[in-house]
Amino acid sequence: MSIQFDPINLHATMVGPRHGLEPSEIEAAQPSALDALNGFRKSFDEGRYGFPSLPAQSRLLSSIASAAASLSGTYDTVCVVGIGGSALGAWALDCALRGPHPVQAAHSTSNPRLVILDNVDPEFLQLALASMSPKRTLVVPIAKSGSTAETMATFLVVDEWMKKALGAKKASARTIAVTSEGRGDLKAFATANNLTTFHIPENVGGRFSVLSAVGMVPAALAGLDIRAVCRGAASMTQLSWKPDLSENVALRSALYHHLLLTLRKKSIQVAFPYSNRLWGLAFWFRQLWAESLGKAKNRQGRTVNAGQTPVAALGATDQHSQVQLYMEGPNDKVFTFWAANRWNTPCPIPKAKTGFESFDYLAGQSMAKLIDSERNATAAALTAANRPNCTYALDRIDAAHLGAFIQMLEFQTAFMGELMGIDAFDQPGVEQGKVFTFGLMNRPGYEKYAVAYKTYQQHRSES
Ligand code: PA5
Repeated sequence: MSIQFDPINLHATMVGPRHGLEPSEIEAAQPSALDALNGFRKSFDEGRYGFPSLPAQSRLLSSIASAAASLSGTYDTVCVVGIGGSALGAWALDCALRGPHPVQAAHSTSNPRLVILDNVDPEFLQLALASMSPKRTLVVPIAKSGSTAETMATFLVVDEWMKKALGAKKASARTIAVTSEGRGDLKAFATANNLTTFHIPENVGGRFSVLSAVGMVPAALAGLDIRAVCRGAASMTQLSWKPDLSENVALRSALYHHLLLTLRKKSIQVAFPYSNRLWGLAFWFRQLWAESLGKAKNRQGRTVNAGQTPVAALGATDQHSQVQLYMEGPNDKVFTFWAANRWNTPCPIPKAKTGFESFDYLAGQSMAKLIDSERNATAAALTAANRPNCTYALDRIDAAHLGAFIQMLEFQTAFMGELMGIDAFDQPGVEQGKVFTFGLMNRPGYEKYAVAYKTYQQHRSES
């Protein structure tokens, strides 16, 4: 279940010495890559970080599968209430395995749709509720902390909507909570209301939790093959512990990105899937890379303001939106193309000629050949403009390859954090925003944040 990584266009031989890496630089950095591997392995062995173990949790997968089986046929909508790491993974899996939401097959009890409420936009929420029937909906509130304001507020609205239509007992029977085992008010609520509940391991952070109940519960309820996802991820876990850069894609890729960030100042990474089905995953990756690596302090407590800004772009669509900037704007980016080696359907272009040249050269070819040519052409054009770029290729976009790719990106992020000397697993900046919101929404115990906000407002009006 390999993911191929082609880094040739990151080399100085392809994009010149100002923007590409010299073999001597890569060679010299290899010991630091092995240190990163060993450093992360040590933390894992000490139990500090749990995502590498998630694909092996077959008992959890069985209990999720049997919960899904017991409800099968009773719902046509799975309504996930969560945000950030508690929402993006479910979307990424569903988008990749059943297609982007607007073009998914019609939903029914045998093909339930996933509605993900990950924003507190009041109109979005009202439109979502109007599009669902409480009798045919399962609600899945997901929050590791059990206290995120967006999720708590949205859940209160959805829960009342369910209870009004079904009564409290039936609504609770159609609600499955995913949260921490030993803390948080979502857990307390779930216990008080007798909800079926799956737990998130304490050592698995939100953005690394897609292969825990956080992603697996919505995926199983939507009918996706969660065992195949985890099988692919498990095979990547094995590869990612290997101390051999030629086999360990995650480590090799982290090393290249670290060198490009530190030696060539490539402060932006454009994740560029040439596949609409990988679009959700690009947004999931955007959070993973941004929140894990964007840190004020290094592990020694020194201010570093580190990070590499992830941007999601879609090929070929964004060739007509972003590529002008990418070709001619600041040379501060590294591009990672995401490709499928084989398409489930090539979608032939009809052979019949129209007599018009702009159509006829395409006749008899295929959409698969066209999108692959567009990706190859964009990589070649960026290379000619000395813009470093690389490609990850999945043999095909199926559950197992997706699991492997997810796990590769998570390991890569962990290794990159080690190379940068920062903690990739905390998120003090996110927590800061959360407590300010609590203050503004009058949560007891957070008054000082409301006061801090008033001071900020006063400062604004005086400026
Ligand atoms: O990666 C993270 O830790 C965050 O993005 C969280 O997933 C996000 O803030 C949601 O947190 P919670 O699951 O506690 O609601």
